[in-house]
Amino acid sequence: MTPPAVPRRPEGTQDLLPENLPAWRRLESAVREVFELYGYQEVRPPLFESTALFHKSTGETTDIVEKQMFTVPSRAEGGESFTFRPEFTPGVIRLILENQLLKQRPLLKLWYSGPVFRYERPQKGRYRQFHQFGVEAVGSNDPLIDVETIAAFEHILRKVGVTGHAIRINSMGCTECRGAYRDALRAFIQPNLALYCENCRRRFDRNVFRVLDCKVPADRERNEQAPAAVDSLCEACRAHFAAVQQGLKDAGLSFAVDKRIVRGLDYYTRTVYEFTSPQLGSQDALGGGGRYDGLVAQMGGPDVGAVGFSAGTERVLLAMGEETVARAADFYAVAADDASRSDAFRAAQALRAAGLSGDLDFEGRSLKAQMRSANKAGARFAVIVGSEERAQGRVRVKPMDGGEERVVAIDEAARILKGEKP
Ligand code: HAM
Repeated sequence: MTPPAVPRRPEGTQDLLPENLPAWRRLESAVREVFELYGYQEVRPPLFESTALFHKSTGETTDIVEKQMFTVPSRAEGGESFTFRPEFTPGVIRLILENQLLKQRPLLKLWYSGPVFRYERPQKGRYRQFHQFGVEAVGSNDPLIDVETIAAFEHILRKVGVTGHAIRINSMGCTECRGAYRDALRAFIQPNLALYCENCRRRFDRNVFRVLDCKVPADRERNEQAPAAVDSLCEACRAHFAAVQQGLKDAGLSFAVDKRIVRGLDYYTRTVYEFTSPQLGSQDALGGGGRYDGLVAQMGGPDVGAVGFSAGTERVLLAMGEETVARAADFYAVAADDASRSDAFRAAQALRAAGLSGDLDFEGRSLKAQMRSANKAGARFAVIVGSEERAQGRVRVKPMDGGEERVVAIDEAARILKGEKP
């Protein structure tokens, strides 16, 4: 009889194994530490929200809403359908409005971290379940807060040792100057519209900015000559963009203005930015964000400015490089003979209670095999119990680096392991 096939995880998802987690945890601690240094507070919205939320905020014409959402259809006729979040921003704004957080403070600075779902074609650095960390600063139009979000992301990258990335910024203008830009872009594309791909022709009518996001090489080439949003900015938007650039310079952050950044989401106004890394291959965005000054009002809240970014956790980890952190334990408890096994277990429990980490054998293996396990576990000490030690109510402490062995009471063993005794 053939054994049953082993189940496989869904395409585009990942299993995080023990050896992957030290790097994850290091990044997660850096994220928490840095966001808190900058005065951001953590929020945790639910994993899924009403589908309508993303239609209204992420945008009907975005790739995300058009084809990437993991949606659970309504269970009742005419009922609500739900979608596993394809991004954090809409849920965070919903959370702010529903809990009336803007009544408590005029400027909210919130951070988050967790899984995100997009039904994309999986490849290196692109998954269907991935993770993001990021911030949303809601309630201010100050260009310095745009700068602060960029500085916080840069701070995290520096803290985890990511180098060689680039910060690229652009401005999309406000609803007013976007009108002028939309006209300019349509006028540029119209004469050649028939040559564009089907997707672009559809986007031309629904949301012409998205044509600039097309990946088809011939369309990309044609778009090289397209007018840029920064060239149609109104006075106020130009001043805002200039202030962001000055702020970045004053903060000592290197950046480049890239007129081609349009971002794939509908809500952006004014500043948009991306962090890219050449180490990542074709999916080179470590993270991105920008201003979305109209979204809060559009979702039924007050008319306030907002800015934020989200980083791709897996991408930042890729840029951190493969990191295999050797597992280290304080001790490995060893039973020299079968009769001492429960004493070895008791010794391990006493050491753990004293705050020391360690393991022991559960397979009744030989002394030699247990010493090999101690080595493999990266234990600093073997704590050995045999008939001789048992008779004295003591344990043998053996430094794994070849130092001097000592037979001592368990309390003293704990002190030695903690480095309190020479
Ligand atoms: P986004 O550019 O769609 O922006 O995503 C941010 C980052 O998430 C990307 O730069 C990338 O690192 C990562 N990412 C996106 N899709 C995938 C995927 N399939 N697999 C792995 N990583 C991925 C947003 O999500 C906005 N909410 C950012 C924002 C916050 N804007 C304002 N506030």
